[in-house]
Amino acid sequence: MSLLIQEVLEQNAPLELLLLADPSEEKLRSYLSGSRCFVASSNGAVVGACVVQPLGAGAYELMSIAVQATHQKAGHGTALLRWVVDFFRNAGARRMEVGTGAFGYQLAFYQRHGFRVTSIEHDFFVKHYPEPIFENGIQHFDMLRLTLRYPGDVA
Ligand SMILES: CC(C)(COP(=O)(O)OP(=O)(O)OC[C@H]1O[C@@H](n2cnc3c(N)ncnc32)[C@H](O)[C@@H]1OP(=O)(O)O)[C@@H](O)C(=O)NCCC(=O)NCCS
Repeated sequence: MSLLIQEVLEQNAPLELLLLADPSEEKLRSYLSGSRCFVASSNGAVVGACVVQPLGAGAYELMSIAVQATHQKAGHGTALLRWVVDFFRNAGARRMEVGTGAFGYQLAFYQRHGFRVTSIEHDFFVKHYPEPIFENGIQHFDMLRLTLRYPGDVA
């Protein structure tokens, strides 16, 4: 499996794919401008994508990451996350943050790459999304903020 990862312009961002990670198209569109979008392709077909927003002072936020449902659990998400973490390390980043639900495989996915829980925003998913979000029959209420600190970040 060879995966090609490239940055794309905002207008070429694969919205439908990214909506797997963020069910609000309005929110997705609002942070796409001002962010950088990276796309992973295999044999010419887009299989994954992620969006990273600069927060200033060397901090970045992974706003969304998604792999096509038919291509999940094949290592593409891991490869894309590793690539993007390395990309921003090489660009001199001090830390990368991500917000995710308080349970589910996604939490382990980030923690496996060195992200650690730094804060919790209670009721985030009910305050910021018009519809309740369920996973495995459990409603998501709270958002955990995880941070990956690059070597040299002293904050
Ligand atoms: C999260 C996501 C990007 C991971 O991509 P992926 O290509 O499936 O990831 P990988 O194949 O590298 O697998 C990473 C781990 O996640 C697990 N995983 C992936 N999809 C899963 C699923 N639907 N259910 C349970 N575990 C899953 C894999 O088993 C693997 O765990 P392991 O290392 O213990 O075997 C992808 O599942 C996805 O797009 N999910 C929907 C969008 C989403 O939730 N994005 C994150 C928002 S916070």
